[in-house]
Order: sequence, then C-alpha cells, then structure tokens
Amino acid sequence: MGIKIKRIGVLTSGGDAPGMNAAVRSVVRCAIQRGLEVKGVMRGYEGLIQNEIIDMNARSVSNILGRGGTILKTARSKEFMTKEGRAKAHATIKKNALDALIIIGGNGSFKGAHALWEEFKVPNIGIPGTIDNDISGSDYTIGAHTAVSTALDAIDKIRDTVTSMERIYIVEVMGRHDPFIAIRVGLAGGAEDVLFPYTQYNTVQMCDDIVAGRKKGKRSWIIVVSEGVAKAGDIADMIKKKTGFSVRAIVLGHVQRGGSPEAFDRILASRLGYEAVEALLKGHTDSMVGVVAGDLKIVPYKKACEKDHKKVMLDDNLYKLTKILAT
Ligand code: F6P
Repeated sequence: MGIKIKRIGVLTSGGDAPGMNAAVRSVVRCAIQRGLEVKGVMRGYEGLIQNEIIDMNARSVSNILGRGGTILKTARSKEFMTKEGRAKAHATIKKNALDALIIIGGNGSFKGAHALWEEFKVPNIGIPGTIDNDISGSDYTIGAHTAVSTALDAIDKIRDTVTSMERIYIVEVMGRHDPFIAIRVGLAGGAEDVLFPYTQYNTVQMCDDIVAGRKKGKRSWIIVVSEGVAKAGDIADMIKKKTGFSVRAIVLGHVQRGGSPEAFDRILASRLGYEAVEALLKGHTDSMVGVVAGDLKIVPYKKACEKDHKKVMLDDNLYKLTKILAT
C-alpha cells in the first residue's frame, strides 16, 4: 500500500449496538499506544460528509466501556449512498489529513467502506457492530449477545402473564433478515414456536397444533416472530380467527438495542478494536476483523456481506431443539 499511517478516524455507523462504545474505547487507546493520532467522526458517514470531526485522546473514552449506544452518535446516511456524497466525505478525509478509517457498523456500513476504498483508495478496516449478527466471517457481532439477553428478559416477564391469563402471545423481535435473536430467545425463553427467515413456516399446521394442544390440556403459548418474516399483529389476528382463542401481539422494538453491554460484548469489542488497529498498521484494507472459533481473523468486506451457511445450519439445529423441548 505504501502510505504510512499517522492519523486515523473512527466512526460508528448504522443502528447502534451495545458494545460500540467499548469498541471505540479500544480503538482509541490501542491506536494512541501505537503512536497514532485519533479523530472521532460524529454521526457516522453523515458526519464525514458534514465535516463533524472531534479530537480524541485516552481520556475522551473514559467511563464508556459499560455504556449502551455510541458516544460518537450514529446515522443511516442516504447521501453517502451516492457518489457525490462519498466525494464530500473524501474531501473531509483529506481536509483533516486522515490516513485511514476504522468503521464500526453492520453490512450497510461495510458496503460504504468498500466504496471508499474502491473509489478513493482510503484505507479502512471494519469492526462488526450490529445486534443482528448478520455478518459472515465472524461468529458474532458486537451487541448481538446483549440484545438476546434483553429480549429474553422481556419474554420471561411476558411468560408470567401468558401463564396467568392462559393466552397465546406473539412476540416480534428484531434482527432484520437474520434469525439470530429470534432463534436464541425462542430456545432460551421456552417458546412453543419460532417463525424466522430461511424456513417455510406453516400457519395452518401451527393453528392445528394449538387446537390439538388445548384439547390435551396445554393452556398457553409464546410464539416468537422474527421481524424479517411477518408482523406479530398479523400472525395474532390469523390465529385468533382460526382458533377463537385469546391472542396478544407484542413488538419488542428498539428496546433490544439499548442497555449496558454484557461482558461477552465488551470483551469482543475490546479484542476487535485492538485487532482493527493492528490490521491497519500491517497494511490491510477493504476488510473487517472478525472472530471465528475464538481466533481473530481478517475478512474482506465482500465475504463479510455474503450469506454464512454454517450459521444457517446452526440456527436450524437450535430451532429443531426448540421444537423438541416445546412438546
Ligand atoms: O440493524 C439493526 C436494527 O435494529 C434491525 O434489527 C432493525 O431491523 C433495524 O435496525 C431498525 O432500524 P431503525 O433504527 O432505522 O429503525
């Protein structure tokens, strides 16, 4: 690559995820220890377009390790999706003499990072941060474990009323088109069923099972629905119509993105922050850092945005187990 990196910018982009702050802290402190200057870019690519750049030092990331959200703020920038928007972002990069960027976000953010490399040769490394866990080449993304625990906490509470009122509850969880959260809260929360992407769910069969279950004395159900396949309200209406039973729909929504990151996400974020700085210094670019079976890996963005068949198989097995245990 040839360019000596002296000053880097760090930004968070897309949906916030618990543990993003831990990643920012790790990037800032590891980079400073390696003799680099660090600038923070506010509001993701939007701040890069608008030249919202702040100085960062080891103290600017004090006391953020356990805080949810991101101190750098984040955004989904429509303008950055255009070539003109990216040209403005490149002008900011030049104006602030940023030799490279570290981008903490999900696959939309990585597509933008790839374009910055392709079009302007801005060296950059990504850190996977999204509650969806929908990135290939890393077993986990920062925030996904905490989001599962947050959703599970809600499901445990819903279970109390489900049991007391002898109802059917349809609980919609986030995850975009990835079933990571849905499958895990389904298994850990003892759900009777999970509707998730990549499977053909059969609502007729589901209603028949509910009616048959009632006849055998089963009184309550929790059915988890991944937002990527259906709306909880639609499924609830359909079950009510077909069975005549009392059904309620709940959308957990953005609560799943909040809260203090769990130890798992803080540790993952701290490791990936370190690795991202090292990867840049070794001359890597157009790639993210990930963790596979405990080992840190450098994965090209192109691969990171592909479907991960190993994850699909694991999810499928976890779902089968959920169904076995729900009898
Ligand atoms: O990608 C994270 C995520 O929370 C998804 O699970 C969800 O579909 C989406 O972001 C919601 O986006 P927004 O915050 O823009 O409503």
